[in-house]
Amino acid sequence: MAGPPEEKLICRCYRVPEGAIRRAIAERGLRTVEEVTAATRAAGGCGSCWDEVQAILDETWGRPLPRDVPDESGLSAIQKRERIAGLIEQEIRPLFGRNGLDVQLVDVSGDRVLARFRGERVGGAAPSWLALKKHLVRKMAEACGRKMSLVELNVLEQQASQPGS
Ligand code: FES
Repeated sequence: MAGPPEEKLICRCYRVPEGAIRRAIAERGLRTVEEVTAATRAAGGCGSCWDEVQAILDETWGRPLPRDVPDESGLSAIQKRERIAGLIEQEIRPLFGRNGLDVQLVDVSGDRVLARFRGERVGGAAPSWLALKKHLVRKMAEACGRKMSLVELNVLEQQASQPGS
């Protein structure tokens, strides 16, 4: 007799099946890919399953605005991304560089800015690191005319790679 049909594997890096992602979304009310990553590890590795995880979220909660359509801030995700990329290139990266840090903008989704940080003090509690991050968040809000939240992908990836998380 044939066994139960095999569940579709969404994340090959962490071997996370579709059912586990759907359950986590439903049980914990997860709204974003990064929240799914923190809960299940899915999309916390190479990132190639990111779109599939987003598609499951869209199916569950409804599709977010297209990237070129302005939200109530008057800016689209593409415009916000352009502004933040310019801010990082012109002001933030040089400032961070003088402090031994680097920042890479990955994406802007709604009011969330997905970025990765590198450097010895990243993730620590050093006041200089926290002050730099605060500065970045303030400048992003100025650039986009509204509060933007920073999603530190390096922290999510670190959590996802820890056993038992
Ligand atoms: S396949 Fe999911 S992170 Fe690589």
